[in-house]
Amino acid sequence: MVSRRDFVRSTAVGLAAAPALPNILIRRAARPVVIADYSGYAFKNGGSENAVERAFRGITQGEDVLDALIAGVNIPELDPTENGIGYGALPNAYGVVQLDASCMHGPKRRAGAVASIEGVRTPSLVAKAVMELTDHHLLVGRDARDFARDVGFTVEDDLNTPDSRRLWMEWRRRVDPEHWLDPNGAGRRRRDENRPAHERDPELLAGLSMVRDGLIREGSFWGTINCSGITPAGDLAGVTTTSGLAWKIPGRVGDSAILGAGMYVDNDVGAAGSTGRGEANLYNLSSYLIIEELRRGRAPKDAGMEALRRIQKNTVERRLLNARGLPNFNVRFFILDKQGRWAGVSLYRAGETKYALCTEQGSSAPDLEPLLPGAPED
Ligand code: GLY
Repeated sequence: MVSRRDFVRSTAVGLAAAPALPNILIRRAARPVVIADYSGYAFKNGGSENAVERAFRGITQGEDVLDALIAGVNIPELDPTENGIGYGALPNAYGVVQLDASCMHGPKRRAGAVASIEGVRTPSLVAKAVMELTDHHLLVGRDARDFARDVGFTVEDDLNTPDSRRLWMEWRRRVDPEHWLDPNGAGRRRRDENRPAHERDPELLAGLSMVRDGLIREGSFWGTINCSGITPAGDLAGVTTTSGLAWKIPGRVGDSAILGAGMYVDNDVGAAGSTGRGEANLYNLSSYLIIEELRRGRAPKDAGMEALRRIQKNTVERRLLNARGLPNFNVRFFILDKQGRWAGVSLYRAGETKYALCTEQGSSAPDLEPLLPGAPED
């Protein structure tokens, strides 16, 4: 009797030494794949591997599928230069880093999540602890932090880095230039005056002006990593971890902690997750929708496009539409099916235009396939 773990180990060994092993041991249920948004490719935290490479190494060496993915996303979570995720992420409106994360283990059919947690650099691991150590799915706020402390996580007073605090100060100056002064005299910016006064959202516009001015990566403004993987045995898992929207109203929780919105896994069908405007995924339960489309036999790209069309159809408020009457925000989906087929799709190919992939051919950053032409602000 060969356990799945032994089978996977044998398979991993078999990849290197196939001729010496009987066929039964090298036959695979799926080609292993790890998919993530671009931060899974771009950040290494000073090491030699990015998130998708680390996760792929784990799943092909017999590590538990979710453990491997979380070890992957821990890299950008801990990287102080990735200011959308974990340590050094852009804080909320009060200057406090509040993080959301969820994870889902396909074979175990279990999931865990935390929302608005402060003080822990790796909320993905706290989400996994909720999954493994409690009968519950979601812990929030101060109680999530206390839970983390109780089960052995280090809790810090402040997850800001000098850079994330500097950017928060710049945002304060742009929102309230009368009271927050730039010691260098260069930080004063006029509020957006191209829009009628009743349409202005100075806090959001000030944030977006920092993206336009190149101070914040667009990917960090909604900063998130979603990472899904399939093992050679065909097992799936997923994890999403984020600081959410930069400068958010304290306590705001986006899609990343919510099953079916920012992430979903069905071990019989596939895995899907998202980055971008979380509210759009909360309204449409987009990740769950994608899994149901895969269940109906659609290919990953078609399933993702269906979710993007649903978002477009349900975006009707004028404040969320651009001059063309299309959504003035972006959302991206990263999709894997049970056969190991994948897709990376987005409303627009704008801002962060690539995603992260790792297969037996190594890691790469393919282009996202957009639903709509142009950019959100066109
Ligand atoms: N997608 C991340 C967020 O909206 O919080």
